[in-house]
Amino acid sequence: METTHVGIVGLGTVGSGVAKILLEQSTRIARHAGRQLKLQHAVVRDLKKPRGIEIASSILSDELSKITDNAQISVVAQLIGGLEPARSIMLQLLAAGKDVVTANKALLAEHGPELFDKARELGRSIAFEASVAGGIPIITSISQCLSANQITSLRGILNGTSNFIVSQMEESGMKFDDAVSLAQQLGYAEADPAMDVDGSDAAQKLAILSHLAFGSRVGWKDIPRIGIDSLDPADLRFATELGYRIKLLAIAQLTDHGLELHVSPSLVKIGRPLAEVREAYNAVSVVGDAVGRVFFQGLGAGQMPTASAVVADLIDMATGRTKITFRTLELWSQREARVDIREHDETPGRYYLRFSVKDHPGVLGDIASVLAQHQVSIASVIQHEPTRDSEGSLVPLVIMTHTATEGGVRQAVEQIELGESVKQGSVRMRVLD
Ligand code: NAP
Ligand code: HSE
Repeated sequence: METTHVGIVGLGTVGSGVAKILLEQSTRIARHAGRQLKLQHAVVRDLKKPRGIEIASSILSDELSKITDNAQISVVAQLIGGLEPARSIMLQLLAAGKDVVTANKALLAEHGPELFDKARELGRSIAFEASVAGGIPIITSISQCLSANQITSLRGILNGTSNFIVSQMEESGMKFDDAVSLAQQLGYAEADPAMDVDGSDAAQKLAILSHLAFGSRVGWKDIPRIGIDSLDPADLRFATELGYRIKLLAIAQLTDHGLELHVSPSLVKIGRPLAEVREAYNAVSVVGDAVGRVFFQGLGAGQMPTASAVVADLIDMATGRTKITFRTLELWSQREARVDIREHDETPGRYYLRFSVKDHPGVLGDIASVLAQHQVSIASVIQHEPTRDSEGSLVPLVIMTHTATEGGVRQAVEQIELGESVKQGSVRMRVLD
Protein backbone atom coordinates (compact mmCIF):
# COMPACT_ATOMS: atom_id res chain seq x y z
CA MET A 1 0.00 0.00 0.00
CA GLU A 2 1.26 3.51 -0.84
CA THR A 3 1.98 6.01 1.92
CA THR A 4 1.21 9.72 2.27
CA HIS A 5 3.58 11.35 4.72
CA VAL A 6 1.91 13.91 6.98
CA GLY A 7 3.25 16.75 9.11
CA ILE A 8 1.51 18.61 11.93
CA VAL A 9 2.36 22.13 13.09
CA GLY A 10 0.82 22.73 16.53
CA LEU A 11 -0.02 19.98 19.00
CA GLY A 12 -2.48 21.79 21.26
CA THR A 13 -6.12 20.82 21.76
CA VAL A 14 -6.83 20.07 18.08
CA GLY A 15 -3.36 18.99 16.96
CA SER A 16 -3.09 16.38 19.74
CA GLY A 17 -6.48 15.00 18.71
CA VAL A 18 -5.35 14.72 15.09
CA ALA A 19 -2.11 12.97 16.11
CA LYS A 20 -4.11 10.60 18.32
CA ILE A 21 -6.37 9.53 15.44
CA LEU A 22 -3.47 9.16 12.99
CA LEU A 23 -1.42 7.11 15.46
CA GLU A 24 -4.16 5.01 17.03
CA GLN A 25 -6.49 4.46 14.04
CA SER A 26 -3.98 3.96 11.24
CA THR A 27 -5.71 0.82 9.91
CA ARG A 28 -9.09 2.50 9.68
CA ILE A 29 -7.60 5.61 8.07
CA ALA A 30 -5.70 3.49 5.52
CA ARG A 31 -8.93 1.66 4.65
CA HIS A 32 -10.79 4.94 4.09
CA ALA A 33 -7.95 6.61 2.18
CA GLY A 34 -6.82 3.58 0.20
CA ARG A 35 -3.29 4.37 1.40
CA GLN A 36 -1.36 4.76 4.64
CA LEU A 37 -1.24 8.18 6.31
CA LYS A 38 2.01 8.28 8.27
CA LEU A 39 2.67 11.02 10.81
CA GLN A 40 6.25 11.91 9.98
CA HIS A 41 6.86 15.04 12.07
CA ALA A 42 5.01 17.29 14.53
CA VAL A 43 6.35 20.77 15.18
CA VAL A 44 5.56 22.63 18.42
CA ARG A 45 6.79 25.74 20.21
CA ASP A 46 7.69 24.19 23.55
CA LEU A 47 9.18 20.69 23.46
CA LYS A 48 8.86 20.25 27.24
CA LYS A 49 5.09 20.69 27.37
CA PRO A 50 3.12 17.49 28.13
CA ARG A 51 0.92 16.53 25.17
CA GLY A 52 -1.49 14.04 26.71
CA ILE A 53 -0.77 11.55 23.91
CA GLU A 54 1.86 8.91 23.35
CA ILE A 55 4.09 10.30 20.64
CA ALA A 56 7.69 9.28 19.92
CA SER A 57 10.17 12.04 20.75
CA SER A 58 11.87 11.38 17.39
CA ILE A 59 8.73 12.74 15.66
CA LEU A 60 8.60 15.93 17.75
CA SER A 61 10.55 19.05 16.92
CA ASP A 62 10.52 22.79 17.49
CA GLU A 63 11.97 23.49 14.03
CA LEU A 64 9.60 24.07 11.11
CA SER A 65 12.39 23.08 8.71
CA LYS A 66 11.90 19.45 9.85
CA ILE A 67 8.72 19.64 7.79
CA THR A 68 9.53 22.19 5.08
CA ASP A 69 12.83 20.46 4.20
CA ASN A 70 11.38 16.97 4.23
CA ALA A 71 10.50 16.17 0.61
CA GLN A 72 8.54 13.07 1.64
CA ILE A 73 5.94 15.13 3.54
CA SER A 74 3.27 16.25 1.08
CA VAL A 75 0.49 17.40 3.38
CA VAL A 76 0.57 19.35 6.64
CA ALA A 77 -2.13 20.03 9.24
CA GLN A 78 -1.36 23.51 10.48
CA LEU A 79 -3.11 23.77 13.84
CA ILE A 80 -1.90 26.92 15.50
CA GLY A 81 -4.26 29.77 16.27
CA GLY A 82 -4.07 33.52 15.68
CA LEU A 83 -2.79 35.44 12.66
CA GLU A 84 0.99 35.48 13.10
CA PRO A 85 3.07 33.39 12.85
CA ALA A 86 0.20 31.27 11.45
CA ARG A 87 0.09 33.28 8.19
CA SER A 88 3.87 33.20 7.59
CA ILE A 89 4.06 29.51 8.45
CA MET A 90 1.28 28.68 5.99
CA LEU A 91 3.06 30.67 3.25
CA GLN A 92 6.30 28.80 4.03
CA LEU A 93 4.53 25.46 3.89
CA LEU A 94 2.91 26.29 0.53
CA ALA A 95 6.24 27.56 -0.84
CA ALA A 96 7.85 24.29 0.27
CA GLY A 97 5.32 22.41 -1.89
CA LYS A 98 3.00 21.21 0.87
CA ASP A 99 -0.78 21.09 0.74
CA VAL A 100 -2.20 22.53 3.95
CA VAL A 101 -5.14 21.63 6.20
CA THR A 102 -6.21 24.26 8.71
CA ALA A 103 -8.85 24.82 11.41
CA ASN A 104 -7.93 28.49 11.76
CA LYS A 105 -10.94 30.55 10.64
CA ALA A 106 -9.44 33.79 11.98
CA LEU A 107 -6.49 33.31 9.64
CA LEU A 108 -8.73 32.49 6.66
CA ALA A 109 -11.20 35.29 7.35
CA GLU A 110 -8.33 37.81 7.58
CA HIS A 111 -5.80 36.53 5.03
CA GLY A 112 -7.86 34.11 2.92
CA PRO A 113 -7.42 36.00 -0.38
CA GLU A 114 -3.62 36.12 -0.07
CA LEU A 115 -3.29 32.50 1.07
CA PHE A 116 -5.67 31.09 -1.54
CA ASP A 117 -4.05 33.12 -4.34
CA LYS A 118 -0.65 31.81 -3.27
CA ALA A 119 -1.89 28.21 -3.12
CA ARG A 120 -3.45 28.50 -6.61
CA GLU A 121 -0.32 30.13 -8.01
CA LEU A 122 1.84 27.30 -6.64
CA GLY A 123 -0.59 24.53 -7.64
CA ARG A 124 -1.24 23.63 -4.01
CA SER A 125 -4.51 23.20 -2.06
CA ILE A 126 -5.85 24.39 1.28
CA ALA A 127 -8.57 22.43 3.11
CA PHE A 128 -10.48 23.97 6.00
CA GLU A 129 -13.51 21.84 6.98
CA ALA A 130 -12.65 22.23 10.68
CA SER A 131 -12.62 26.02 10.48
CA VAL A 132 -16.41 26.31 10.68
CA ALA A 133 -18.66 24.45 13.12
CA GLY A 134 -16.02 21.95 14.33
CA GLY A 135 -17.13 18.40 13.58
CA ILE A 136 -20.11 19.34 11.37
CA PRO A 137 -19.24 18.79 7.68
CA ILE A 138 -20.73 22.12 6.61
CA ILE A 139 -18.00 23.30 4.21
CA THR A 140 -18.16 20.12 2.12
CA SER A 141 -21.95 20.10 2.30
CA ILE A 142 -22.31 23.65 1.00
CA SER A 143 -19.54 23.57 -1.57
CA GLN A 144 -20.16 20.06 -2.89
CA CYS A 145 -23.24 18.16 -1.67
CA LEU A 146 -25.64 21.12 -2.06
CA SER A 147 -24.02 22.57 -5.18
CA ALA A 148 -27.17 21.99 -7.28
CA ASN A 149 -28.93 24.63 -5.19
CA GLN A 150 -29.17 28.36 -4.87
CA ILE A 151 -28.89 28.63 -1.12
CA THR A 152 -31.32 31.25 0.16
CA SER A 153 -30.81 31.11 3.91
CA LEU A 154 -28.18 30.10 6.45
CA ARG A 155 -28.91 30.30 10.17
CA GLY A 156 -26.23 29.02 12.47
CA ILE A 157 -25.08 28.59 16.01
CA LEU A 158 -21.43 28.79 15.02
CA ASN A 159 -19.60 29.42 18.28
CA GLY A 160 -19.47 26.47 20.67
CA THR A 161 -18.02 28.51 23.52
CA SER A 162 -20.86 31.06 23.50
CA ASN A 163 -23.49 28.36 23.28
CA PHE A 164 -21.82 26.50 26.15
CA ILE A 165 -21.71 29.67 28.28
CA VAL A 166 -25.37 30.57 27.64
CA SER A 167 -26.43 26.97 28.41
CA GLN A 168 -24.51 27.01 31.69
CA MET A 169 -26.00 30.38 32.69
CA GLU A 170 -29.50 29.27 31.74
CA GLU A 171 -29.52 25.76 33.15
CA SER A 172 -27.21 25.91 36.19
CA GLY A 173 -27.30 29.63 36.97
CA MET A 174 -23.53 29.72 36.48
CA LYS A 175 -21.92 33.17 36.41
CA PHE A 176 -20.64 34.39 33.03
CA ASP A 177 -16.95 34.51 34.08
CA ASP A 178 -17.09 31.01 35.61
CA ALA A 179 -18.66 29.62 32.43
CA VAL A 180 -15.89 31.26 30.32
CA SER A 181 -13.20 29.64 32.54
CA LEU A 182 -14.87 26.24 32.24
CA ALA A 183 -15.06 26.59 28.42
CA GLN A 184 -11.32 27.38 28.41
CA GLN A 185 -10.53 24.36 30.59
CA LEU A 186 -12.52 22.14 28.24
CA GLY A 187 -10.51 23.40 25.24
CA TYR A 188 -13.45 25.08 23.47
CA ALA A 189 -12.34 28.71 23.67
CA GLU A 190 -9.91 30.59 21.47
CA ALA A 191 -6.56 31.67 22.95
CA ASP A 192 -8.29 35.06 23.31
CA PRO A 193 -11.81 34.12 24.46
CA ALA A 194 -12.98 37.67 23.71
CA MET A 195 -13.23 36.53 20.05
CA ASP A 196 -15.73 33.86 21.13
CA VAL A 197 -17.98 35.99 23.31
CA ASP A 198 -18.01 39.25 21.32
CA GLY A 199 -19.33 37.59 18.15
CA SER A 200 -16.06 37.92 16.16
CA ASP A 201 -15.45 34.17 15.84
CA ALA A 202 -19.03 33.59 14.62
CA ALA A 203 -18.70 36.52 12.16
CA GLN A 204 -15.47 35.04 10.76
CA LYS A 205 -17.23 31.72 10.22
CA LEU A 206 -20.28 33.42 8.69
CA ALA A 207 -18.01 35.32 6.28
CA ILE A 208 -16.49 32.01 5.10
CA LEU A 209 -19.91 30.34 4.70
CA SER A 210 -21.43 33.30 2.86
CA HIS A 211 -18.50 33.43 0.42
CA LEU A 212 -19.11 29.77 -0.34
CA ALA A 213 -22.89 29.79 -0.39
CA PHE A 214 -23.69 33.18 -1.95
CA GLY A 215 -20.51 34.29 -3.69
CA SER A 216 -20.36 37.32 -1.37
CA ARG A 217 -17.03 39.05 -0.84
CA VAL A 218 -17.81 40.56 2.54
CA GLY A 219 -15.02 41.00 5.06
CA TRP A 220 -15.84 39.60 8.50
CA LYS A 221 -15.36 42.99 10.17
CA ASP A 222 -18.13 44.41 7.96
CA ILE A 223 -20.67 41.93 9.35
CA PRO A 224 -22.74 43.69 12.05
CA ARG A 225 -22.22 41.71 15.22
CA ILE A 226 -23.18 41.68 18.87
CA GLY A 227 -21.84 39.06 21.25
CA ILE A 228 -23.02 37.50 24.48
CA ASP A 229 -20.48 39.37 26.58
CA SER A 230 -23.08 41.70 28.03
CA LEU A 231 -25.85 39.10 28.35
CA ASP A 232 -27.84 39.68 31.55
CA PRO A 233 -29.36 36.66 33.37
CA ALA A 234 -32.58 38.72 33.59
CA ASP A 235 -33.00 38.39 29.81
CA LEU A 236 -32.58 34.61 30.01
CA ARG A 237 -35.41 34.56 32.58
CA PHE A 238 -37.69 36.84 30.54
CA ALA A 239 -36.99 34.82 27.39
CA THR A 240 -38.05 31.62 29.18
CA GLU A 241 -41.19 33.34 30.48
CA LEU A 242 -42.04 34.34 26.91
CA GLY A 243 -41.38 30.80 25.56
CA TYR A 244 -37.97 31.44 23.97
CA ARG A 245 -34.29 30.60 24.47
CA ILE A 246 -31.44 32.99 23.77
CA LYS A 247 -28.88 31.81 21.19
CA LEU A 248 -26.00 33.59 19.51
CA LEU A 249 -27.21 33.32 15.90
CA ALA A 250 -25.25 33.98 12.72
CA ILE A 251 -27.68 34.77 9.91
CA ALA A 252 -27.27 35.08 6.15
CA GLN A 253 -30.54 35.63 4.31
CA LEU A 254 -30.81 36.17 0.57
CA THR A 255 -33.55 38.70 -0.29
CA ASP A 256 -34.61 40.72 -3.33
CA HIS A 257 -32.84 43.67 -1.67
CA GLY A 258 -29.49 41.89 -1.23
CA LEU A 259 -27.87 39.58 1.30
CA GLU A 260 -28.67 40.24 4.96
CA LEU A 261 -25.82 39.31 7.28
CA HIS A 262 -25.53 39.68 11.03
CA VAL A 263 -24.47 37.95 14.24
CA SER A 264 -26.44 38.63 17.40
CA PRO A 265 -27.96 37.04 20.49
CA SER A 266 -31.53 36.25 19.46
CA LEU A 267 -34.65 34.82 21.06
CA VAL A 268 -35.51 31.50 19.41
CA LYS A 269 -38.94 29.96 20.02
CA ILE A 270 -38.70 26.89 22.28
CA GLY A 271 -39.36 23.78 20.20
CA ARG A 272 -37.55 25.06 17.12
CA PRO A 273 -34.51 22.86 16.40
CA LEU A 274 -32.09 25.79 16.90
CA ALA A 275 -33.54 26.49 20.36
CA GLU A 276 -32.71 22.95 21.48
CA VAL A 277 -29.00 23.13 20.56
CA ARG A 278 -27.18 23.15 23.91
CA GLU A 279 -23.71 23.04 25.45
CA ALA A 280 -20.82 23.24 22.92
CA TYR A 281 -23.03 21.99 20.09
CA ASN A 282 -23.28 24.00 16.88
CA ALA A 283 -26.04 23.85 14.30
CA VAL A 284 -26.61 25.19 10.83
CA SER A 285 -30.00 25.38 9.16
CA VAL A 286 -29.59 25.75 5.40
CA VAL A 287 -32.33 26.37 2.86
CA GLY A 288 -31.67 25.55 -0.81
CA ASP A 289 -34.11 26.12 -3.67
CA ALA A 290 -34.08 22.44 -4.69
CA VAL A 291 -33.39 20.60 -1.44
CA GLY A 292 -35.53 22.69 0.95
CA ARG A 293 -34.38 22.98 4.56
CA VAL A 294 -31.44 20.87 5.80
CA PHE A 295 -30.45 20.93 9.46
CA PHE A 296 -26.94 20.06 10.66
CA GLN A 297 -26.06 19.63 14.32
CA GLY A 298 -22.91 18.45 16.06
CA LEU A 299 -20.13 19.45 18.41
CA GLY A 300 -18.70 22.73 17.21
CA ALA A 301 -15.67 22.83 19.45
CA GLY A 302 -13.48 20.41 21.38
CA GLN A 303 -10.57 18.14 20.64
CA MET A 304 -11.95 15.06 18.92
CA PRO A 305 -14.90 16.57 16.97
CA THR A 306 -12.51 19.12 15.45
CA ALA A 307 -9.84 16.48 14.84
CA SER A 308 -12.50 14.42 13.03
CA ALA A 309 -12.88 17.21 10.44
CA VAL A 310 -9.11 17.77 10.12
CA VAL A 311 -8.37 14.08 9.54
CA ALA A 312 -11.16 13.87 6.94
CA ASP A 313 -9.42 16.75 5.12
CA LEU A 314 -6.08 14.92 5.37
CA ILE A 315 -7.70 11.84 3.82
CA ASP A 316 -9.21 13.95 1.03
CA MET A 317 -5.77 15.46 0.40
CA ALA A 318 -4.17 12.01 0.31
CA THR A 319 -6.73 10.61 -2.13
CA GLY A 320 -6.44 13.66 -4.41
CA ARG A 321 -10.06 14.72 -3.92
CA THR A 322 -9.14 18.15 -2.52
CA LYS A 323 -7.01 19.00 -5.55
CA ILE A 324 -10.12 18.75 -7.72
CA THR A 325 -12.53 20.55 -5.39
CA PHE A 326 -10.08 23.34 -4.51
CA ARG A 327 -9.89 24.32 -8.20
CA THR A 328 -13.65 24.88 -8.46
CA LEU A 329 -14.09 26.51 -5.05
CA GLU A 330 -15.56 29.99 -5.19
CA LEU A 331 -13.94 31.02 -1.93
CA TRP A 332 -11.59 33.96 -2.45
CA SER A 333 -11.44 33.32 -6.18
CA GLN A 334 -10.79 36.26 -8.51
CA ARG A 335 -14.48 36.22 -9.49
CA GLU A 336 -16.69 39.23 -8.85
CA ALA A 337 -19.14 39.21 -5.93
CA ARG A 338 -22.48 37.67 -6.96
CA VAL A 339 -24.57 39.54 -4.38
CA ASP A 340 -24.83 42.98 -2.82
CA ILE A 341 -25.04 43.27 0.94
CA ARG A 342 -28.24 44.83 2.25
CA GLU A 343 -27.91 47.84 4.56
CA HIS A 344 -28.22 46.47 8.10
CA ASP A 345 -30.60 49.26 9.15
CA GLU A 346 -33.07 48.17 6.46
CA THR A 347 -33.27 44.53 7.54
CA PRO A 348 -36.62 43.52 9.01
CA GLY A 349 -37.23 41.51 12.16
CA ARG A 350 -39.20 41.14 15.34
CA TYR A 351 -37.53 42.45 18.49
CA TYR A 352 -37.33 41.86 22.23
CA LEU A 353 -36.68 45.11 24.08
CA ARG A 354 -35.95 45.52 27.78
CA PHE A 355 -35.87 48.94 29.40
CA SER A 356 -35.12 49.84 33.02
CA VAL A 357 -37.75 52.44 33.77
CA LYS A 358 -39.00 54.53 36.67
CA ASP A 359 -42.25 53.09 37.94
CA HIS A 360 -44.16 56.31 37.25
CA PRO A 361 -47.45 57.11 35.46
CA GLY A 362 -47.12 57.77 31.73
CA VAL A 363 -43.75 56.03 31.18
CA LEU A 364 -45.21 53.17 29.18
CA GLY A 365 -47.27 55.64 27.10
CA ASP A 366 -44.17 57.74 26.34
CA ILE A 367 -42.21 54.67 25.21
CA ALA A 368 -45.09 53.41 23.05
CA SER A 369 -45.38 56.82 21.42
CA VAL A 370 -41.65 56.94 20.46
CA LEU A 371 -41.84 53.37 19.11
CA ALA A 372 -44.86 54.39 16.99
CA GLN A 373 -42.95 57.41 15.61
CA HIS A 374 -40.41 54.92 14.22
CA GLN A 375 -43.06 52.53 12.83
CA VAL A 376 -42.41 49.97 15.58
CA SER A 377 -45.60 48.26 16.65
CA ILE A 378 -45.90 46.55 20.06
CA ALA A 379 -46.96 42.89 20.14
CA SER A 380 -46.85 42.34 23.92
CA VAL A 381 -45.59 43.92 27.16
CA ILE A 382 -44.37 42.47 30.48
CA GLN A 383 -43.93 44.59 33.56
CA HIS A 384 -43.82 42.87 36.94
CA GLU A 385 -44.56 44.62 40.20
CA PRO A 386 -41.43 46.02 41.87
CA THR A 387 -39.74 43.61 44.30
CA ARG A 388 -37.32 44.21 47.15
CA ASP A 389 -34.50 43.52 44.61
CA SER A 390 -35.71 46.25 42.24
CA GLU A 391 -32.95 48.75 41.58
CA GLY A 392 -34.06 52.01 43.33
CA SER A 393 -37.43 52.82 41.85
CA LEU A 394 -36.45 51.18 38.52
CA VAL A 395 -38.35 48.21 37.13
CA PRO A 396 -37.75 46.15 34.00
CA LEU A 397 -40.20 46.75 31.15
CA VAL A 398 -40.10 44.12 28.41
CA ILE A 399 -41.66 44.75 25.00
CA MET A 400 -42.00 42.29 22.12
CA THR A 401 -42.51 44.07 18.81
CA HIS A 402 -44.13 43.15 15.53
CA THR A 403 -41.85 43.16 12.48
CA ALA A 404 -39.93 46.42 12.18
CA THR A 405 -36.62 47.49 10.66
CA GLU A 406 -33.33 47.32 12.52
CA GLY A 407 -32.80 51.04 11.93
CA GLY A 408 -36.28 51.97 13.16
CA VAL A 409 -35.89 49.97 16.35
CA ARG A 410 -32.37 51.23 16.99
CA GLN A 411 -33.36 54.87 16.55
CA ALA A 412 -36.45 54.42 18.73
CA VAL A 413 -34.41 52.87 21.55
CA GLU A 414 -31.82 55.68 21.33
CA GLN A 415 -34.60 58.28 21.55
CA ILE A 416 -36.34 56.47 24.42
CA GLU A 417 -33.09 56.44 26.40
CA LEU A 418 -32.95 60.24 26.17
CA GLY A 419 -36.07 60.33 28.39
CA GLU A 420 -35.63 61.04 32.11
CA SER A 421 -37.55 57.95 33.18
CA VAL A 422 -35.38 55.43 31.32
CA LYS A 423 -31.90 54.23 32.33
CA GLN A 424 -29.16 53.87 29.67
CA GLY A 425 -28.20 50.35 28.59
CA SER A 426 -31.50 49.04 27.26
CA VAL A 427 -31.46 45.60 25.68
CA ARG A 428 -32.47 44.92 22.06
CA MET A 429 -32.50 41.41 20.63
CA ARG A 430 -33.91 39.85 17.47
CA VAL A 431 -36.68 37.27 17.74
CA LEU A 432 -36.91 34.10 15.63
CA ASP A 433 -40.42 32.60 15.83
P1 NAP B 1 -4.01 25.50 21.20
O1 NAP B 1 -4.51 24.46 22.11
O2 NAP B 1 -3.65 26.82 21.77
O3 NAP B 1 -2.76 24.91 20.42
C1 NAP B 1 -1.96 25.68 19.58
C2 NAP B 1 -0.70 24.90 19.26
O4 NAP B 1 0.08 25.69 18.36
C3 NAP B 1 0.20 24.62 20.46
O5 NAP B 1 0.56 23.26 20.43
C4 NAP B 1 1.43 25.51 20.25
O6 NAP B 1 2.62 24.92 20.66
C5 NAP B 1 1.45 25.59 18.75
N1 NAP B 1 2.18 26.76 18.27
C6 NAP B 1 1.91 28.06 18.50
N2 NAP B 1 2.82 28.83 17.87
C7 NAP B 1 3.68 27.99 17.26
C8 NAP B 1 4.83 28.15 16.45
N3 NAP B 1 5.28 29.36 16.16
N4 NAP B 1 5.44 27.05 15.97
C9 NAP B 1 4.98 25.83 16.25
N5 NAP B 1 3.88 25.59 17.00
C10 NAP B 1 3.26 26.66 17.49
O7 NAP B 1 -5.07 25.80 20.03
P2 NAP B 1 -6.26 24.86 19.55
O8 NAP B 1 -7.43 25.01 20.44
O9 NAP B 1 -5.74 23.50 19.25
O10 NAP B 1 -6.66 25.61 18.18
C11 NAP B 1 -5.87 25.52 17.03
C12 NAP B 1 -6.64 26.15 15.87
O11 NAP B 1 -7.85 25.41 15.68
C13 NAP B 1 -7.09 27.58 16.14
O12 NAP B 1 -6.99 28.31 14.96
C14 NAP B 1 -8.54 27.45 16.55
O13 NAP B 1 -9.31 28.59 16.21
C15 NAP B 1 -8.97 26.27 15.73
N6 NAP B 1 -10.09 25.51 16.27
C16 NAP B 1 -10.08 25.12 17.57
C17 NAP B 1 -11.14 24.38 18.06
C18 NAP B 1 -11.19 23.93 19.49
O14 NAP B 1 -12.22 23.40 19.91
N7 NAP B 1 -10.13 24.10 20.27
C19 NAP B 1 -12.20 24.03 17.22
C20 NAP B 1 -12.16 24.43 15.88
C21 NAP B 1 -11.10 25.18 15.41
P3 NAP B 1 2.96 24.67 22.21
O15 NAP B 1 1.96 23.65 22.63
O16 NAP B 1 4.33 24.15 22.22
O17 NAP B 1 2.76 25.98 22.90
N1 HSE C 1 -13.59 28.73 19.86
C1 HSE C 1 -14.36 28.13 18.84
C2 HSE C 1 -15.77 27.88 19.34
C3 HSE C 1 -13.72 26.84 18.41
O1 HSE C 1 -15.98 27.92 20.55
O2 HSE C 1 -16.67 27.66 18.55
C4 HSE C 1 -14.36 26.25 17.20
O3 HSE C 1 -14.10 27.05 16.08
